Amino acid sequence: MRRPIVAGNWKMHGSRAENARLIEELLAGAPATPKATCLVCPPFVYLLEASRQLRDSSISLGGQDVCADTQGAFTGEISSAMLKDVGCEYVIVGHSERRLLYRESDQLVARKFGAALSKGLIPILCVGEQLADREAGRTREVVARQLDVVLELCGATGLEQAVVAYEPVWAIGTGRNAAPEQAQEVHAYIRARIGARDARIAAATRILYGGSVKAGNAAELFAMPDVDGGLIGGASLKADEFLTILAAAGPA
Ligand code: PGA
Repeated sequence: MRRPIVAGNWKMHGSRAENARLIEELLAGAPATPKATCLVCPPFVYLLEASRQLRDSSISLGGQDVCADTQGAFTGEISSAMLKDVGCEYVIVGHSERRLLYRESDQLVARKFGAALSKGLIPILCVGEQLADREAGRTREVVARQLDVVLELCGATGLEQAVVAYEPVWAIGTGRNAAPEQAQEVHAYIRARIGARDARIAAATRILYGGSVKAGNAAELFAMPDVDGGLIGGASLKADEFLTILAAAGPA
């Protein structure tokens, strides 16, 4: 039985005041014992304050990115140990915005994944194809390549302490979510690909869907057998939307 996860990726949004209000609303509305794991990923500079506000609550904290190196002369970077230090349990790695806008390679993403694991953070590894890939029938090929680099570097056992998020790039922030069957097809493929190395780990790995998840479509996406929750962008900035999505992720 895989416990679903609903993660909010706030991206570069918010302010101290806005975040405080959003977290307050989430804390007021979240069930005391949610059926799914819930976490939010604010921008780095707000993590400590969010961590204090979330202390002893059912909502966990994650970073949006992490440095592949552990410490040293890396101006502007944030290490896994630092994220741990301010109360993060999770960190997103390989988000398509990082891969595309900041040219992060599959190798760099895999190193970030390893760096997170090495400090006991749970990496949320994002994979997903662009529209041109899908239209050319290359979805599996792209997702396999992104996944395999991580499997090569960290082994299937690396995924034992991790989460995968399938995020088709064409669905992110576009309002155009993948159809539940489209998501299921790729999720099943990802699980099978991990399963080719280790069936037990594949069966236990949480695979989240991300890309225009909203209150209105979360339940049908989460009802798919290999969809174990969601990574939510835009809709995670509105407490009522996010809480509705969280409620949709409980086991039936
Ligand atoms: P979206 O973003 O929900 O706004 O489409 C998802 C993500 O980028 O993780």
